[in-house]
Amino acid sequence: MTDNRIPDSLDSLWTTCHLATLRAGEDGYGVLNNGALAVKDKKIVWIGPESNLPEGIRRRTPTVHNLGGAWVTPGLIDCHTHLVYAGNRTGEFERRLNGATYEEITRHGGGIMSTVNAVRAADEEDLYMQSVLRLKAMQAEGVTTLEIKSGYGLDPESEMKMLRVIHRLGRDFPVNVMPTFLGAHALPPEYRDDPDGYIDLIVDKMLPAVASGGLAVAVDAFCERIAFSPAQTERVLRAAVSLGFKVKLHAEQLSDLKGAALAAQYGALSADHLEYLDKDGIAAMARNHVTAVLLPGAFYFLQETKKPPVNHLRAAGVRMAVSTDCNPGSSPCTSPLLMMNMACMLFGLTPVEALRGITIHAAHALGMEDKAGSLEPGKRADFAIWDISEPAELSYGMGGNPCRLVVKDGEIVIRREDPYTTGRDDVVL
Ligand code: NIG
Ligand code: FE
Repeated sequence: MTDNRIPDSLDSLWTTCHLATLRAGEDGYGVLNNGALAVKDKKIVWIGPESNLPEGIRRRTPTVHNLGGAWVTPGLIDCHTHLVYAGNRTGEFERRLNGATYEEITRHGGGIMSTVNAVRAADEEDLYMQSVLRLKAMQAEGVTTLEIKSGYGLDPESEMKMLRVIHRLGRDFPVNVMPTFLGAHALPPEYRDDPDGYIDLIVDKMLPAVASGGLAVAVDAFCERIAFSPAQTERVLRAAVSLGFKVKLHAEQLSDLKGAALAAQYGALSADHLEYLDKDGIAAMARNHVTAVLLPGAFYFLQETKKPPVNHLRAAGVRMAVSTDCNPGSSPCTSPLLMMNMACMLFGLTPVEALRGITIHAAHALGMEDKAGSLEPGKRADFAIWDISEPAELSYGMGGNPCRLVVKDGEIVIRREDPYTTGRDDVVL
């Protein structure tokens, strides 16, 4: 990071607050009590004790925000979402509660395919508007960066439609959106008898089109018994890497197909879910610095009993991120705060691990650790301001939202009194 000298002129100063900086090279919250933070040109330029602010700087700064003792954290980062989708899967939820399993429903043409049908049928505007509601719910809880995957189109035109909506959300709202192409999410019915033919379509047509249109930064796949085999997944990863994409993988969610080790072999940013991850997979992730993205919402909502091996991941020094997995089938969730609570209560993370998991470690899962995820000079001025008495309170609550303000690129974009504004005058909803 750049040095921490305060420039002569600033755009804004944020004072009378406590900071959980989550800065690199520390394991804790990085607490700075009675601190202040200075912003210039959309970046954090200085952080320090308020008592160290130079004489006269307040007078020379156009906007000084006295936060009255609130806590400031980095803007939250939701690093694994399927936030763009149409419809819902309430019927499937009822079937599961009457005894059907997620895998059975998927094998009978429901599950991901029922959302694919809804996305294919939806016009682009409708898909956008349905997704906006979820994005705004996340923003209200402090999210300033999120990843959004395609993967409910599964044909070239419908995947492009999803990616266009994903890009539009990033343009219209004060959030950084990382678009991920997930063409290998499920086998579309057109290829029921020819799964390798669908992989050919992805490798030969869809990936090159996504690359030439600049429509995605990363490529993901679902390596699972009900989705794609390791050999099919490997073809997607290899093609993606050769086109310059970053890669990630849905791995070891329902069974152990050694997906995490495969992801590590291709230099993946992250392997995600990981309930069935074994020792070799952990070692491969540790060796290759692959972030483990934990998704307690999916574990909870599918009533899974096998937990990801958190103790072993921790012992091996694998970074653990936490995310909503926002999607209609396995985690219809827009609450990063609830995921922090569930990461603690269901998976055994500590509150500080949960907050690191949804800030700095999530930034690593997106390859954005030099720009976001902690309060440090040189990073984007993205932060959330909370009415809490200590940082662990963010993991402690179940429901309720103590987020008072959300700041993106140095500007207030959400105020709690009116959390449903876009923060931009030119976007009318
Ligand atoms: O991350 N595991 C695969 N994909 C999603 C679920 C998608 C769905 O059921 O619609 C997940 O859990
Ligand atoms: Fe997912």
